[in-house]
Amino acid sequence: MTSAARLRDAALLHAKNICLAHGTVAALDGVSLDVRAGELLTILGPSGSGKTSLLRVLAGLETPQTADALTIDGADMRAVPAHLRPTATVFQHYALFPHLTAGANVEYGLRVRGVPRAARRAQAERALALLRLADKYDRRIDQLSGGERQRVAFARALVTRPLLLLLDEPMGALDERLRATLEADIRALQQSQGMTIVQVTHSRDEALSMSDRIVVMHAGRVVQTGAPEDIFERPSTRFVAAFMGGGEPHRWPHRADRPAWRAHRLRRADLRRPVDRRTAAAPWPARLPRRARGSCPAWRGRLRRQSAGRRRAHAELPRHHAPD
Ligand SMILES: Nc1ncnc2c1ncn2[C@@H]1O[C@H](COP(=O)(O)OP(=O)(O)O)[C@@H](O)[C@H]1O
Ligand SMILES: [Mg+2]
Repeated sequence: MTSAARLRDAALLHAKNICLAHGTVAALDGVSLDVRAGELLTILGPSGSGKTSLLRVLAGLETPQTADALTIDGADMRAVPAHLRPTATVFQHYALFPHLTAGANVEYGLRVRGVPRAARRAQAERALALLRLADKYDRRIDQLSGGERQRVAFARALVTRPLLLLLDEPMGALDERLRATLEADIRALQQSQGMTIVQVTHSRDEALSMSDRIVVMHAGRVVQTGAPEDIFERPSTRFVAAFMGGGEPHRWPHRADRPAWRAHRLRRADLRRPVDRRTAAAPWPARLPRRARGSCPAWRGRLRRQSAGRRRAHAELPRHHAPD
């Protein structure tokens, strides 16, 4: 059995060739992802690289144009709506009910599932205690600080015991100190409870300090997957090297300090990696390499029509204007 096949078998979540376009913007361009049970996996990338889009596809909040596979715990999720998926999501902006108490917010998910009142209360109290909010059960959301609100949002996600917890930059709105304590709490909780978490961030430090594995995204594609130290010390492209700030890609040897050698290696690396020349803001599809676009069948028709249009426009040019 190949190592890829072994990982797929052990994976709690398996996604293959996910393509998602918003109008003419390709947010996800053939993304594949495996998440192992019990790991904290971080999706890291600059703003606009498709992180939120990927998380929304996993949660069922967005329907991809193409998905060769999307399974959680072996079950096909492609036709399963968001509220029936075994996932829970925490967003950057807590999305709590401001007029309800912390306890009522946490219990909300249990109430819609028909859990009886006493059991609801017990479970909500336990979830709040895990997030060090045991004494805040009766406090209204608008009487809590930003850090406490985000802890309530976590408790609300945990209380339904999801197989997969999805976090979209949940620490983004918090100040440095609060962020560090919440990060440590989440990591400790994840390890003690054996939770599986996929979190999204644009913060390199957050990714390096919390993750079992990191998936680096750029312009809607996965550019590298690995353990934090692999990504940091052995970036596989210039983009990853620059983004991680960890120095030169490992393929450039110590001779990198000799200018002629360095220029030569840089040129070669550039030729090998068209992905490096793309910018996150590039309009789709004009700037994507043809090979990248080929993986999404739904877009091929559009590309074919587009090239036919170009050929027609070319044929209609007055003779003396036509190039060669
Ligand atoms: N609802 C939308 N409509 C149009 N374009 C969108 C929408 N959501 C996201 N995009 C575009 O898709 C790309 C990826 O966005 P997103 O997944 O939010 O990136 P990230 O979370 O990494 O910042 C961006 O170019 C963004 O502008
Ligand atoms: Mg985002």
